[in-house]
Amino acid sequence: MTSIVRDQWYVAAYGREIGREPFGRTVCGESVLFWRTEAGRVTAMSDRCVHRRFPLSEPPSHLVGDTVVCGYHGFTYGADGVCVAVPGQTRVPRTARLKSYPVVEQDSFVWIFIGDPALADPARIPRAPWLDMPGWTAVSGMEPLAARASLLVDNLMDLSHETYLHGGYIGTPEVAETPITTEVDEEAGIVYVSRRMADAECPPFYARSTGIQGRITRWQDIEFTPPCLYKLHSRIAPVGVLPNGDGTDPDAFHVEVVYAITPETESSTHDFWAVARDFALDDEGVSDFLRESNRTVVLQDVAALDVLERVLTGEPDGYQELSINIDTGGLAARRMMARLAAGASGAGGAGAGAPGAGSSAAGASGAGAPGGGAPGAGRSGAGQRGGGSSEAGASGAAAVDVAAAR
Ligand code: FES
Ligand SMILES: [Fe+2]
Repeated sequence: MTSIVRDQWYVAAYGREIGREPFGRTVCGESVLFWRTEAGRVTAMSDRCVHRRFPLSEPPSHLVGDTVVCGYHGFTYGADGVCVAVPGQTRVPRTARLKSYPVVEQDSFVWIFIGDPALADPARIPRAPWLDMPGWTAVSGMEPLAARASLLVDNLMDLSHETYLHGGYIGTPEVAETPITTEVDEEAGIVYVSRRMADAECPPFYARSTGIQGRITRWQDIEFTPPCLYKLHSRIAPVGVLPNGDGTDPDAFHVEVVYAITPETESSTHDFWAVARDFALDDEGVSDFLRESNRTVVLQDVAALDVLERVLTGEPDGYQELSINIDTGGLAARRMMARLAAGASGAGGAGAGAPGAGSSAAGASGAGAPGGGAPGAGRSGAGQRGGGSSEAGASGAAAVDVAAAR
């Protein structure tokens, strides 16, 4: 059974990757060809010629005007995927057309809808405006991950791992020590996890980019819109410096860390990452440092998750996990992903109520306190749906066994 939720928007590429050369990438198990028309519009269609399945992204396939010519025998397709010419005859078979996919270019990403095109509502694509917005500078990249997408979701929803896996880069002791709050907006289809450190060591990632000396107030507010777009709203300021009453925050540094989690296959993932900042906008040295540091951090995750994928593949079915408080965000994300997989629509899909993966641990999220002013309304504590009576955690009370969800 597939774990990939198809009727959703996924990031397929950065806009800068798609130009006047055929570009192939596998998304949700489908081989997709991308190219830009002469007017600059991104197209997406099957990357397999209908004749003998030669990949249209593979040389000597090539573009001629607003058509792509198969490099094997010359079948030629328009921007809508319809075949317009075949060799040796004037009649083009009526069925000679490539599957074409809805695409939207937005916030520097190319989004694709792999499932039923009738369900592809562009208004449901979540936004990451800082990646392509005046007043912000962004660096970005993509690393291939030889692990299922759900492992990356787990990883990003629980940042306590920064202390251990990313020590010396972004991790400090306070990250693992500070409790989180988790909230779920069922209507909007968003999971929030907030960790606010009032007095923390400043990790090199922020010390060198902001120039702050000494200890900091560090906020990590996660906003995940399953299945693909993850945003970490990061606020860094000298200890004691808080936003003004009117919401302005001139003395803090803001970093938006964005991930797009796109399944390539059942067991591999495109790990798109971006870091946008509202300071040192024109400082190439800061850009280079953040790009290199974040890529290093991403590759630390990739190495760990690649190992984990190999381990899990070798496990017998029905293995058990043990979840504690730090996992409430990840468990909430699993429940929402399971609901999407069960057929509820994404945003606006509240009420479907599929129990979902890992539901036996819903109580672990029982705390569910408000997220200290993170944006959004109408949210509920993540534990609410599951009873929410137990509060596992450092105190050792009521750690919860979770049936393996994958
Ligand atoms: S495989 Fe494409 S034209 Fe023959
Ligand atoms: Fe990480």
